[in-house]
Amino acid sequence: MKQLPMLLLCIAMTNLVANGQENRVKEGKAVYAANCAICHTVNGGSALGPDFNIVSYTRTKEQVAAYAKDPYSHYKAFGYSANAMPTLPLEDQEFKDVADYIDSLQPFKKWMIKKKH
Ligand code: HEC
Repeated sequence: MKQLPMLLLCIAMTNLVANGQENRVKEGKAVYAANCAICHTVNGGSALGPDFNIVSYTRTKEQVAAYAKDPYSHYKAFGYSANAMPTLPLEDQEFKDVADYIDSLQPFKKWMIKKKH
């Protein structure tokens, strides 16, 4: 029975880590709603920019964060001939959070092949 406190501590710490991730997705959703939803849908098809549900399948979260922060430097590598997305004045953390949110949209995407860029 001596192991019980240790076990409880481990469970508590696992929950802390899991909740931390959960919160960032939540904040990322708010960043999306305030800054991206005007041009990107989630599951509503292409608007001005591509549907993030699809982007979630085809890009890593690092790619999404990098593109969101500086579209001009990435549009060619992503296959576009021109850049129509504005450079948004957000914090690095907000770009990471919104990338976490987009990444969370398709939990089974690990089984799918991602585009490489
Ligand atoms: C004013 C409209 C507009 C806003 C606001 C906008 N985007 Fe975009 N975004 C675009 C367009 C248009 C494209 C397609 C590339 C192009 O034509 O420039 C794009 C492309 C992208 C791509 C590349 C998708 C791919 O896989 O090809 C990502 C990632 C992206 N946007 C993320 C974001 C995020 C995150 C936000 C909010 C923080 C955001 N965008 C806000 C218009 C916008």
